[in-house]
Amino acid sequence: MNKKTKNSIKSKSKKAYKKLGFTFLETAEIVVALNQLLANYQVHYHKLRSFHWNVEGPDFFELHETFGQDYNTTERNIDEIAERIRVFGVKPGLSIKDNSELSEIKETKISISALEMVREVLKDFEILHDKMLDVLNAALETGDNATEQMISEFMRELEKRNWMYTSWCK
Ligand SMILES: [Fe+2]
Repeated sequence: MNKKTKNSIKSKSKKAYKKLGFTFLETAEIVVALNQLLANYQVHYHKLRSFHWNVEGPDFFELHETFGQDYNTTERNIDEIAERIRVFGVKPGLSIKDNSELSEIKETKISISALEMVREVLKDFEILHDKMLDVLNAALETGDNATEQMISEFMRELEKRNWMYTSWCK
């Protein structure tokens, strides 16, 4: 190996790092899927905050509390996803504009009824679940057990909340 090649490898390994046990290429699909989940989760988070503040009617106390609990869980998961992307050596640096363009979940008007808010949350859950499945499949394909476990935990939580919100609508 000549000196030039050696130096370029040296400077590259100084700047970039990769997740233990995997190459950048092996984890690229997981990072793309994590980034999409992150974008969707962030829009969902803002919707939950808005619903927490703006819900009205006889169910105010119950839903104000419930949306509050859910945005706390969502905030925790967002942080875990973003930090997981960092573990892969990539920066989750999406601007608010990029974020809303990438997200399939869209913002909604604040003047909707309590029932419409819950239906909106359920619609978001379907999209989030799909995005989680994409991450899970990419992680399974690569054999990335830690991402698989993190996402499985999120899915278990989401599926339970889905049952609860669905029951509330009946
Ligand atoms: Fe609050």
